[in-house]
Formats: sequence, C-alpha cells, structure tokens
Amino acid sequence: MIENSTLVLFGAKGNLSRVKLIPGLFHLDESGQLPDNMKILSVGRQTSTQEDWQKEVKGMLDKKFKDGYCKKTYKRFIERNIYHANLTEDPEAFQKFSKKLNEKKLFSQNLAFFLSVRPSDFALIVDQLADVGLLDQTKGWKRVLIEKPFGTNLKSAIELQESISKHLNEEQIYRIDHYLGKSALQNILITRFANSILEPIWNNTHIDHIQITNHEMLGVGDRTIFYESTGALRDMIQSHLLQMMALTTMEQPKSFSPNDIRDEKIKLLNAIKPFGKNDFNNHTYRAQYAAGEIKGEGGVEGYLNEVGNQDSITETYAAVKIFIDTPRWKGVPIYLRTAKRLNASGTNISIKFKNGDSLIGDNNNWIIFDIQPKESTAIEITTKTPGLDENELRPTNLEGFNRVDGDESIDAYETLMLDLMNGNQSRFLHIDEVTAQWKFVDPIIDYWTKNKVKLNQYKSGDSDPESSKIIFDDPSQFWR
Ligand code: BG6
Repeated sequence: MIENSTLVLFGAKGNLSRVKLIPGLFHLDESGQLPDNMKILSVGRQTSTQEDWQKEVKGMLDKKFKDGYCKKTYKRFIERNIYHANLTEDPEAFQKFSKKLNEKKLFSQNLAFFLSVRPSDFALIVDQLADVGLLDQTKGWKRVLIEKPFGTNLKSAIELQESISKHLNEEQIYRIDHYLGKSALQNILITRFANSILEPIWNNTHIDHIQITNHEMLGVGDRTIFYESTGALRDMIQSHLLQMMALTTMEQPKSFSPNDIRDEKIKLLNAIKPFGKNDFNNHTYRAQYAAGEIKGEGGVEGYLNEVGNQDSITETYAAVKIFIDTPRWKGVPIYLRTAKRLNASGTNISIKFKNGDSLIGDNNNWIIFDIQPKESTAIEITTKTPGLDENELRPTNLEGFNRVDGDESIDAYETLMLDLMNGNQSRFLHIDEVTAQWKFVDPIIDYWTKNKVKLNQYKSGDSDPESSKIIFDDPSQFWR
C-alpha cells in the first residue's frame, strides 16, 4: 500500500483526465490500492460547486464502466474527490490554492502534482507552486508529474528543464511517456534478462534487422491544432518508439533499480549514430494520409481537409532507420515507423534473424513482441509442410500470450499514477533520455523543413506506402 498522499490533478476537466485519470483512479480505488485517507484534489480553471463536480465525476465513470461499478467504492471515491477552481484572472489564485491544501486535517502534505495541462503552462505552474511554498519538502514529499511533450525540440526541453530545476531536484520530477506504463513494455526487460536463451543471440552476429512499428486506424480526430504543430515524428517516434528501441537494445542493467535501468537507456540513446548529411534521404521518410476508406467504410477524409489547411506539410506517417554505435549493434539497421489511418492498428517489435548457414536460403526466423492489441511473444520458424513434397516449407508461428484470461488488467496511466505516489521513477524519463531523444529528432525536422523533402501521400485505410521502401537496406525487405 502506498503512503498516504494527496494527488493534485491540474487540468482535471481535460480529456486525459476524463477518459484515463479519473476512471483510472477509481479502478485503483476499487482494487484497494489507494490509502484510506488519500484525497484527489482536482484543479480546473472554471468554477464548479462540489456537487456539480461530483456529478461530472459520476458522468466520467458511467461512460467508462458501461457495465456498472461497485456502489461502495463509488461512495468512497466520491468522498475523496474535491474540486478547486484556480481562476487565471485572480492574482491571488495560488495563495488561495495553497491555503486550501494547507488544511492539514483534510490533505496529506505528501503532495503529488499531476500536470495535465498545456505544455506552455508547465514551467509557469511549477514557478507558482514554488512561490507559495507548495514545493517545500519540510512537511512531506513533493513530486511533479509532467505530461508529454517535454519540450518541442532540444532547446525548449532544456529551457523547461532549467526553469523547473530551479525549484525541483531530479528525484521530484516525473516526465511521462505513457508507453512505459504498458505491461507489455515492462515485459521486454523481463523477457530479455530473465531468460538466458536470448542473450547469446541478441547481437549483430545473429540479428539481421529490427522493426519497431506502431500503426493506428484512427486519424488525428479533434486534436488538429496540436497535431499540426507536432507531426508523427515528434508525436510518436521522439519518445514512445525510441523508448521501445531502448528497452529492446540496451545492455543489462546492474539491477532493476530505477537509476540502473535509466542509466542503461541513457547510454543506449546516446549511442544512436547521428545522420551524415547524405543520410537523411534514405534513412528517413514521411507521408500524409489522403481520403480513403477504413475497413470498407468509404468517405474517410484526408488530413488536409480535417485540419482545414490545404498547404499543411505535417506528416502522419514517419519512418526512420537507425544504427547504434556499439559493438553489440554495429551494422544492424533498426527501422522505426509510425502511422495514422492505416488499414489496421497495432504496436510490435519484430526482430529478424540472419540466415547463417541455413541450407534453404531465407529461413525467416523472427522473434516478435506484440505490444498491442495482443500482448504476446512469438518465434517464427520454418518447418516442413506435412505431405509428400519434400521441399514444401512454411513458416510456423510459436506464439505465447503474456496476458491470459483472468490476468489483472491495469491501464498504463494507473501504473504510472501509482509509481508517482510510490516514488518509483523507473518508468519515467530522466532528463538525459529526453535530451538524447530530441538530439536525434531535431536534425530530421530541420532537414525536412530546409530541404522541402517530399511529403508522400497514402490513401486512408491502405497498407504502408511502397515508397517507404526507400529506407530499407535490403530492397527485398519491407515492413513485416
Ligand atoms: C499519444 C499520441 O502519445 O499516443 C497519440 O499523442 C497516439 O497521437 C497515442 O495516438 C497512442 O497511444 P496508445 O496507448 O493508444 O498506443
């Protein structure tokens, strides 16, 4: 059980809070994970009576748990939930807020601030919390969770870091990448380091290449303004996919302690080979979805119409080829690809093995970590098809499910909120990871912009554009 604490949710009326955080906290409460006296102080910019807020919370739960939920937990949960309006126009807003939190009988002074607000407000809120003494650790610990993105490039990430580190030390800062809260991702380290059969083959002697891919059928939805200024490379590759790559390729940490795990990821991310100026054209690729149909349903709008800007050059498909400059990975291409509006949704890590001395040519050996929608580990091997034909071979997929019926299901945000309250930073990003990630992404954005690199088009609902083949080292290869 975690120490008694107060979770302060900035941006409580926002989408993330409605869909993930409040229902997630309810689920944690239901499974007995929240201390009896813990309060959730939701902070928003609009005024709202306690009664109205409780109705809103009920609405969020009704929407999420359509089959109903436990009445007893509901009563307890509603009592934990307190709303506070922090009005932007009120110069005394943070003093009042601090006064509220200082009601010691009501609120534990172990304070976890979850900032689910506009990125431009992160530094400001931290300044204001510090000004009114709310980050002072003499009366209990103080932690601040910062939603993604942490900066929009290296420069702004460093500026944000400089600003918040005036008031917080690294142990108090929780930079989120919600992928790290997914149980399938946590499983990568266990699969690699708790099973000695993998380590001897986890290197450039045996591995041909690695594909780390995420694809969604969904488009950008109502996040048009955010997406226009972000694009697929920054939205997905900058953190989620690079983190998946780090977990797949990092060296074994000294222990599973947060610092040891993060140290190895930092080393790995810093070992990404920078692109030479002639590399960008065949190591990176971008595209944007046009109109099309998804699963037979036509009339799906193209990106340009959705954002109402016919000149937009924002990519919704991004792919890169990475080399890692370490003895283990020298010469092994690692392909990362993310896309919106493809013909299917899924996130996978696929590892292709070399043919070695195989008598049959391409032996098609793969290890596949399916992150979502399934959570499985598969090995693909070549086998003989039963029958008289000696030469008829086929791939056989040996798939094991890491999640089976009856296993506890806990959303990534639930895991991360518990970690925040428990003081466990292993599934949060260290600032050195964030800066290494921007150091990789910034030059690509610069190159694409300065050189007006072609933005390819693909039809919504199609599979990968053929032209993305350009980044493959071996022309016979493509996305798995
Ligand atoms: C978010 C991105 O960080 O991750 C979204 O901003 C993306 O564009 C989402 O859709 C994907 O997350 P998940 O957990 O649904 O794979």
